[in-house]
Amino acid sequence: MANILIVDDEQSYRQLLSLVFEEQGNNIRTAMNGRQALEALKAEPADIIISDVKMPDMDGIEMLRAVRETSPDLGVILMTAFASVETAREAFKLGADDFIQKPFDVEELKLIVRKTLEKQALIDENRAFKRAQRDRGSIKNIVGSSSKMTAIYQMIETVAEVQSTVLITGESGTGKELVARAIHDLSPRAEKPFISINCGAFTETLLESELFGYIKGAFTGANTNRKGLFEAANGGTIFLDEIGEMSPAMQVKLLRVLQERRVRPVGAHDELAIDARVIAATNRDLKQMTEDGTFREDLFYRISVIPIELPPLRDKPEDIPELIAYFLKKFCDQTGKDLSISPKVAQMLESYAWHGNVRELEHTIERAVALERSNEIQAEQLPDHISNYNPQRIKAEFDLPDTGINLTTHLDNLEKTYVVEALRQSGGNQTKAADLLQMPVRSLRHLLDKHNIRSLSAQMRSSD
Ligand SMILES: Nc1ncnc2c1ncn2[C@@H]1O[C@H](COP(=O)(O)OP(=O)(O)OP(=O)(O)O)[C@@H](O)[C@H]1O
Ligand SMILES: [Mg+2]
Repeated sequence: MANILIVDDEQSYRQLLSLVFEEQGNNIRTAMNGRQALEALKAEPADIIISDVKMPDMDGIEMLRAVRETSPDLGVILMTAFASVETAREAFKLGADDFIQKPFDVEELKLIVRKTLEKQALIDENRAFKRAQRDRGSIKNIVGSSSKMTAIYQMIETVAEVQSTVLITGESGTGKELVARAIHDLSPRAEKPFISINCGAFTETLLESELFGYIKGAFTGANTNRKGLFEAANGGTIFLDEIGEMSPAMQVKLLRVLQERRVRPVGAHDELAIDARVIAATNRDLKQMTEDGTFREDLFYRISVIPIELPPLRDKPEDIPELIAYFLKKFCDQTGKDLSISPKVAQMLESYAWHGNVRELEHTIERAVALERSNEIQAEQLPDHISNYNPQRIKAEFDLPDTGINLTTHLDNLEKTYVVEALRQSGGNQTKAADLLQMPVRSLRHLLDKHNIRSLSAQMRSSD
């Protein structure tokens, strides 16, 4: 059963139509002119409007125009006694669903209403389907079920529903752009453009004309008017990547745009209203930059209404196996290969520190898939720094007691411990031990003398 709003200045029509459609079990409201109708819609939405055209105080055409600005799918049927081809054409151009001439057969109007409702149901269904597809799609290409990533998914879903500016931070390759796209795809703006710009890739003047556009003659070479990206992203999302690279002068301009929601194209007198959601990203520490005076504090607060921090890959190693499987499939599909990964390689990939984060892992697998000629990826296909990586981290444990320590003695002891450990690992071989400590053998010998342990290397060799 539908919510129908009947708009007519003639009481007889309001009564007749109310009766007809109420009888079918619909929920009916009435209004006497376009203005009243818009107020009624604001108070409570409707599924269909059946409206007269000629009415005092906002006619049906004007009302239709206003309705379409906010409700593209609301069914609108217009009726008029003075049907002209012109009016009908204009009504359809403005997005009326149907048009009927007074006086009409009530059965005919009933049929039109039914068809309009059916069309709406289809649109709704289609939209729900698309949304479900999208939901699955855009979060699905973000991989990882660690608790850290689960929290990020929740954040993405929540943030997608609101309009606030989001600041995504994280090291290079952690997926900042991926997350920005997911937010856009899950948001009501999904059907509108997602526009991404790398603020670090432009000079100040270029960035300004990219973002805000320019008019013909604004500068040498400006031969035509050009839309800026803020305008191009209208209704959608603009992703300002590497915002930490923005010059102080651009920061001021951006702040104004965010505050006023208007841009002035370079060389133009007038400003344009814009409706683009802003998502910014950086791998720099903006808070620190505000303290150093290189990033405006007011802009920082304006863009970081909702901050999302993406963890580096080394802080969520439990996601690595899933990412490996995902990229392995992706690159096998792309190259038509069918490869598995040897347990040894899997272990190497899982224990590596990944300072380039997911991007580095992705490239490593892409390369290995391309190079491998057997049906299992071998360690030779990994770059040396990964296959030789020694995950045994040096423990940076230390403890400074209240009473203090003698740092010189302490470092001496530490030095001795490392020398002894290097000799032990190399079975007393001084050349190998020196390699492990990345120093010439001469320096190692000097340390053996210094710590009075020259005999130790001989002992270790004989105990072998
Ligand atoms: N969780 C993830 N699941 C799947 N792919 C990911 C994930 N995180 C990142 N990637 C992939 O890693 C690559 C780098 O991601 P993205 O470009 O979003 O990183 P970024 O944080 O914007 O990096 P930069 O700071 O260098 O611009 C992309 O190919 C992206 O698809
Ligand atoms: Mg990026």
